[in-house]
Amino acid sequence: MESARQPDPCILIVFGAGGDLTWRKIVPALFNLFAGGWLPENFMMLGLDIKEMSNEKYRSHLKDGVDSFSIKHESGNLWNEFAEKISYLKADFTSIQVFNKLGRQLESVNKQWKVKANHIFYLAVPPRFIEPIAERIGQSGLAKDETQCRIVAEKPFGRDLESARKLNSILLKIFRESQIYRIDHFLGKETVQNILAFRFANALFEPVWNRNYIDNVQITVAEQLGVEHRGSYYDNAGAFRDMIQNHLLQILCLIAMEPPVSFGADELRNRKVDVLHSIQCYRESDVHRYAVRGQYGPGWIEGEHAKGYREEPGVNPASNTETFAAVKFFINNWRWHGIPFYLRTGKHMAETISIVTVEFNPVPFDAFPPEATVNWHPNRLILGIQPEKGIRLNIQGKRPGLKMAFNPVDMVFNYSDAYTEEPPEAYETLLLDIMLGDQTLFMREDQVDAAWSLIMPILNVWESTPPLDFPNYPAGTWGPEDAEALIARDGNHWMYLPLKLNEKKRGKSGKGKINE
Ligand code: BG6
Repeated sequence: MESARQPDPCILIVFGAGGDLTWRKIVPALFNLFAGGWLPENFMMLGLDIKEMSNEKYRSHLKDGVDSFSIKHESGNLWNEFAEKISYLKADFTSIQVFNKLGRQLESVNKQWKVKANHIFYLAVPPRFIEPIAERIGQSGLAKDETQCRIVAEKPFGRDLESARKLNSILLKIFRESQIYRIDHFLGKETVQNILAFRFANALFEPVWNRNYIDNVQITVAEQLGVEHRGSYYDNAGAFRDMIQNHLLQILCLIAMEPPVSFGADELRNRKVDVLHSIQCYRESDVHRYAVRGQYGPGWIEGEHAKGYREEPGVNPASNTETFAAVKFFINNWRWHGIPFYLRTGKHMAETISIVTVEFNPVPFDAFPPEATVNWHPNRLILGIQPEKGIRLNIQGKRPGLKMAFNPVDMVFNYSDAYTEEPPEAYETLLLDIMLGDQTLFMREDQVDAAWSLIMPILNVWESTPPLDFPNYPAGTWGPEDAEALIARDGNHWMYLPLKLNEKKRGKSGKGKINE
């Protein structure tokens, strides 16, 4: 988040260097940082993985990744200079000799640079490797200097509360909390960070940002993609673990938190964890009233036939894993008591869109003639996270003419109109913050714990009572009927309001309907 400084000399050691995350996200982001002049002069990436590969072959594999996934820079002329900073080591992550050898290698780079570089151990590996790698780092003495060594763990951070606690306790035996960077990449997104700017750098909204003026809040993270090649991971996770436990709850925290007194990492994380602790935790007997699950069956996406989830590679053909989840949360504090926060996410949905919609209360008294208010609805604020980035305030105006008639109109801030520069990728921001030692955008142990504690009753009920109706939504739609009912019971509906001024209104919630 800080990003005004250049990081100190640094060696990034990537475990899982041959994997998808390194290829699609980490290295393209590093390359953008390099091209933008953000990396320190003394920088090196050391990739470790099980496959035998020469440095040349590894670098050329990474170049393909940069050319395919870097939104800002094609590898071009800069590539060779960047590639020289990368080397590859075939390694068995469970062998202590590998870590001893790594230690000697790091030592010799430090000697060559004549500095004490920071060592960042990035675990871009399946969860089962986190524990052995962390332990070997500890055993080989590589974590000893807490000012020099940092460790980065990707989600999923545990599979449930118990496993997350176990993982945290293992990490905390070897590292201090200040050395651990638990990634939730949504927090690195420009539009997610902008929630903080919007809320706390403008005086206008704070007075109405509470239960006295707001009727409900909706957070939708919908993806048109299915599970693609990640079937075996996803089938063991499901939408609630994969998205709600982390990304959606983090967005909720930013929307609901109290103003921080400083922008220090711990202050911000304290305010967010307060929100998690204030969310009403459901009794298992009540889960069916507050949470809905779904699984996609075959359907159509943009004119192409899409397989059902149970036919996807790596997925159990009788799987009961949810690919859609919706939940209603209440935050039991003075600011939000009684206000529903609706969260939904799903794969193979009608569109790819992540938005937050804040619906305000109606006016307290309507003095206008009934014919004026035909098109009336309450004010809505829409924060577009992706792919459309921006903010839209939907207000009522008088439709031009000789009689009084209302018409909803918009005040719009659109990133592409307001700024010429392309926002950084989430991983650029996060990698730079790790190198700078800024933990603001990373999950602290107690945040992870609080998020798991909150959702465990829902996961427990879903695991112990198999769904009777899966698959219950066709690919390419907005999820199961029950998700509509969840919100309709309160007299509300899922909203989808596009950000672009000239775009026609599209279906909000369901089944291709055109809604406001
Ligand atoms: C990941 C989930 O954390 O986030 C994926 O595991 C999901 O299932 C992805 O597709 C979405 O991230 P983004 O940045 O592509 O919106």
